[in-house]
Order: sequence, then C-alpha cells, then structure tokens
Amino acid sequence: MSLPQRVTIIEVGPRDGLQNEPGTIPLDAKLRLLDELAEAGLGVLEAGSFVNPKWVPQMADSEAIFEQVKRAPGVRYAALTPNLKGFERAMAVGADEVAIFAAASESFSQKNINCSIAESLARFEPVMEAAQARGIPVRGYISCVLGCPYEGDISPQAVLEVTRALFAMGCYEVSLGDTIGTGTAGSMATLLGVLLAEYPAERLAVHCHDTYGQALANILVALQHGIATVDASVAGLGGCPYAEGATGNVATEDVVYMLNGLGIYTGIDLPKLIAAGRNISAVLGRPSASRVSRAMRI
Ligand code: HMG
Ligand code: MG
Repeated sequence: MSLPQRVTIIEVGPRDGLQNEPGTIPLDAKLRLLDELAEAGLGVLEAGSFVNPKWVPQMADSEAIFEQVKRAPGVRYAALTPNLKGFERAMAVGADEVAIFAAASESFSQKNINCSIAESLARFEPVMEAAQARGIPVRGYISCVLGCPYEGDISPQAVLEVTRALFAMGCYEVSLGDTIGTGTAGSMATLLGVLLAEYPAERLAVHCHDTYGQALANILVALQHGIATVDASVAGLGGCPYAEGATGNVATEDVVYMLNGLGIYTGIDLPKLIAAGRNISAVLGRPSASRVSRAMRI
C-alpha cells in the first residue's frame, strides 16, 4: 500500500459548514473560528462565499469576514465565486484564491446554480480570465461525483467530462465532491481509476460529505490512489442547501486522527483543532459531529 507522506487539508467548515446553518451565526464567532483554525495549523481556509445572498443568506457577511479576519502568515483565505460578479466581490476584499463550482449532474446544476452544466462552464470562462489576469489561483469543484439527490447514480464518464472542462479552462486542482455522501470505497475506486488514467493524483482532491458514514473509508481509498489533498470541515459542520438530507463534510478532526495513525504529516495540532470545533459547536448549541472530538478527553 503506497500512501502520500503528507496531506494538505482544505478546511471548508467556515463556508461549506456554516452556509447550511438555519440560524444566523454572529460574525464574531465566524472570525474566531477562522483564527482558531489558523492557529491549529490549517493552511487553507475556505472563509466565505460570494454567491447571491438571497440564495444563501448565511454567507451574506462574506465581505465583512474577509475584511476583518486577522490574516495569519502563510495561510490562504479562499472563497467560492459562482460568476464574475462573485469574483469581483472576492477581489474587492482580498481573497487569496477562489473556487468555481460545477456539477456532474444536470439536475443538481439547475437547483444549485440555476443553469445547465454547459451554461455554468461558460459562466466560469470570464472568471478564469479575470483570475488569470490578476494571478489568482482558481480551484474547481465538481458536485455529485458519486451520486445525485435528484438523478441517483452518476457515471464516472460524466465526472471526467466536467473535470476535463475545468482543467482546460485553467483550474489548478479539481475537488471531487461526494455532495450527498452516498459514495463507497468501491465507487470511489472506480471513479478514481477513470480520472487517474488522464490526470495525475496531485491535481485532484476529494471532498466527502459523511451522510452515509462512508467518508473516512472513501478518503482512505483516495490516499491509496495517491491523492494528497482532502477537504474537511471542523466539527463535521454543514451540508448543502440544495441537497436535502446531506450532512456535513467529514470532520477535520477525524481525518487528522486517521492521518496521524497512518504516520502522514499534516502540520495540524489535533488538540487545538478539537478546541476550535468545540467552540463553534457551542455557538451552534449542539455537540460536535466529530467522533474523535466526542471521544477524546482533552
Ligand atoms: P441567478 O439568479 O441565475 O443569477 O443565480 P442572475 O445572474 O440571473 O442574477 C439574479 C440576481 O442575483 C441579480 O440580482 C444579480 O445581481 C444577483 P437582482 O437584479 O435580482 O437584485 N447575483 C449576485 N449577487 C451577489 N453575488 C453574486 C451574484 N450573482 C448574481 N455572485 C447564482 C445564479 C449562481 C448567483 C445563484 O444560483 C447562487 O447564488 N447560487 C448559490 C448556490 C450555492 O451557494 N450553493 C452552495 C455552494 S456549492 C456547494 O456547497 C457544493 C460544494 O461544497 C461541493 C460539494 O459538496 O459538492 C462546493
Ligand atoms: Mg460540499
């Protein structure tokens, strides 16, 4: 079994996690979360999302977040940008990098961003051009790579086609989103077999929601395929507003615990991470969804 020696964790809790909360989370709590995550050693923080605030009101304070967060040295503060308007908003407040997001399922694309896959890719072109002109790295997400809430199974070929399009337009990395967490070690291995025949593992990331409790197994399969970038959400926060029933991403604490056990370097301080997860969970008034956080007496 060959595994990467180090793994980069992309912390998506402040965006993917908090975008799905029913209540309003105070700006101070969001800023504190970002500070604590940086302090715990996370090097990439997805801090906000410049989408239409009518669609996702929880992210409406993203400008304030980017303006007010203490920029920890060496940490990249990333934002989701669905179109040029979102990109310009992100640039106005100094986002270090942005992500565009497409889907492998037509129905999900319509529900999530109100257009077809082809239309979404066309909308991303001006974002890519503007980003390239400013030297801003762009990450590409693909949702529903292992299943769709509306269409069920999704073929690896459909994922491959969107992956090709995102790389062709200049994304530095594609993050494979198992949005509703229905993927298994088997379907993840099949998908990666198809994608890795065309692209190196260094250009792919996995983004596993844990709805069916399969996320750690699926991440382990990805590591065994050489993938060394893993998205995770502190305290297992979140879900997707356009995928009913989807729970949060795999908890960052649980991924770090697994990676520590495998002897894979992350640079993350697990006790500090657990403390960050407990603090935001206290704000939300519920226990952390991280099994490691609940189990560890620290
Ligand atoms: P639309 O309604 O088709 O857009 O929405 P439009 O271009 O027709 O514009 C309509 C209105 O939206 C206009 O305002 C625009 O100005 C405004 P009005 O004239 O009505 O007052 N607008 C914006 N306002 C602020 N910022 C913007 C922006 N763009 C347009 N950037 C749009 C299209 C994509 C904007 C909309 O569908 C949207 O905001 N969707 C949000 C979807 C979302 O955030 N989903 C969750 C994130 S994705 C995710 O979680 C999955 C992921 O984690 C991976 C995984 O797990 O699979 C990444
Ligand atoms: Mg997600």
